[in-house]
Amino acid sequence: MENSFYKDSIVLLEGAISDITSKLDIIRKYKISKNDRDPIEYITTRVKSEESMKEKLKRKNLDVTLQNALTKIFDAAGIRIICAYIDDVYIVAEMLKKYKDLKVVKEKDYIKNPKPNGYRSYHIVFELSLDLAGEINNVYVEIQIRTIAMDFWSNLEHQMKYKKNIKNPEFIASELKRCADEIATTDLNMQTIRKMINTEE
Ligand code: GTP
Ligand code: MG
Repeated sequence: MENSFYKDSIVLLEGAISDITSKLDIIRKYKISKNDRDPIEYITTRVKSEESMKEKLKRKNLDVTLQNALTKIFDAAGIRIICAYIDDVYIVAEMLKKYKDLKVVKEKDYIKNPKPNGYRSYHIVFELSLDLAGEINNVYVEIQIRTIAMDFWSNLEHQMKYKKNIKNPEFIASELKRCADEIATTDLNMQTIRKMINTEE
């Protein structure tokens, strides 16, 4: 079925997501085969909705065209990888970066350098080539890798951005920031405890 905004390019976006999802599946199986822990809890994927893509193009003062959506915006195709522990985030990021057919075009470590609001996550934008009916197409995919706790936090923080008429936004923002810092401490503690339990690691 043709998509009204992405047209045939939906096949490329979905194809790029499947390509990386399949690589992630291999990474998990490889780790398990080595008697290591599976570094991934779960994965979600999405193609950005037509509505939010149009809104983003306008917000960035770009003409609302399919060409701009595919070449100027990097998150038409998105993958979110949720890990239990901070170590796993870096393990997954490093293993993905080893693939020769994935070119890193942008990388941001908001875990080492959290945003002022407390947002933490590891972001990588990959460019990959997809062969579609003999034609080579470059596609961008935005990957967000974070812990369960970081995901919990960012989902709540995201809701606040879209809620209008919040009575006490400053208080909520400062409470969110406090929770983000507590979560960061807890993530580190959980990882330390796990290492103490599994002393062979
Ligand atoms: P944009 O996609 O235009 O934001 O480009 P950018 O260069 O600012 O990318 P960045 O890596 O900062 O953010 C990419 C995506 O990460 C966003 O589209 C969100 O999904 C997520 N993200 C970034 N910052 C925040 C934040 O403060 N809170 C939440 N909940 N999500 C965020
Ligand atoms: Mg942003």
